[in-house]
Amino acid sequence: MEKGYTVSITGVGSFLPRKVLTNDDLTRMLDTTDEWITKRTGIKERRIVENGVTASDLAMEASLRALDDANILSSEVDLIVAATITPDCLVPSTACFIQEKIGAKNAGAFDILAACAGFVYALSIAKGFVASGAMKTVLVIGTECLSKITDYTDRSTCILFGDGAGAVVVQRGNGKREIVTTYLGSDGSKADLLTLSAGGPRLPASQATIESHSHYIQLKGKELFKTAINNMVDMIVKAAAENNMQVEDIDLIIPHQSNIRIIEAAMEKLKLPKKKAYVNIGRYGNTSAASIPIAIDEVDKEELLNPGDSVLLVAFGGGLTWGTSFIKW
Ligand code: UT7
Repeated sequence: MEKGYTVSITGVGSFLPRKVLTNDDLTRMLDTTDEWITKRTGIKERRIVENGVTASDLAMEASLRALDDANILSSEVDLIVAATITPDCLVPSTACFIQEKIGAKNAGAFDILAACAGFVYALSIAKGFVASGAMKTVLVIGTECLSKITDYTDRSTCILFGDGAGAVVVQRGNGKREIVTTYLGSDGSKADLLTLSAGGPRLPASQATIESHSHYIQLKGKELFKTAINNMVDMIVKAAAENNMQVEDIDLIIPHQSNIRIIEAAMEKLKLPKKKAYVNIGRYGNTSAASIPIAIDEVDKEELLNPGDSVLLVAFGGGLTWGTSFIKW
């Protein structure tokens, strides 16, 4: 099959709000302990936006950093793809707010909703546009204000989530950070495992939806947990095979940060050392679509990789949705 142009990530950036919500803070709000949260999730603290700050605000900061890193102007962006489950509002798209905030006056803009797999979905879209020659420069963003849809009276979910944003610039291949393959999957029969059910046409906002806390994220944690591990293992094996490699040839896996136990269990099943998975969940919690681009930015800034290293992004989330991107650094 004709593959078209090679495609690279030419700039990366991220932004985390300054305000920190620690496990100790949560113990003052709920019947929980730092020990339980740390042991069951790996999370010690997460970042939370101030009132009035939205996903497009975080995305603007991350995007400007990514554009600066790519050494391009916002006017050079052809398309903005924003992955988020916490859009500023339902209409218009958050991508349009970002377009205006960064002054990307020549860009198309749309959102994509694929929960925690949102960033790998968006990256795959960008790769397609650039590889085909239809676009030269696509800005891909994962941005979330999960604190706005978190029920802080539900101790089994509120301990997990945090806010943040990450962005990458995707352009024709420059021999570095090449997006070699992408893979996407879904299973709508398990849609009920992670939902925010109210506020749309299926269940419009009402007194009853407010009373039942249906405007907050709700998850069936145990089932998600098991599915996530098996799914991650399958995806990593598949991505290695597709790229004619053994799983142990992958230099670094950058997984969606959902739970340290999910990541470690998958690594154990694959007989890979823990250090081959990049983990920052302790500092930020689960930031859904933002977790992978934030991690990419940290890996880049900390210079953890060498040119030519094999890097696999792996995500799994509500929908269910999942996906990978294999990157030759
Ligand atoms: O991002 C994409 C998708 N997200 C995920 O994949 C998340 C996957 N799920 C998880 O990470 C875990 O299932 C959770 C962290 C959400 C929950 O951990 P768990 O080990 O599955 O705990 P559990 O829900 O089975 O609860 C075990 C016990 C329960 O008490 P009993 O019934 O055994 O007496 C809970 O009530 O722990 C209790 N519990 C807590 N105790 C203290 C639940 N939350 C808390 C808490 N503090 N915050």
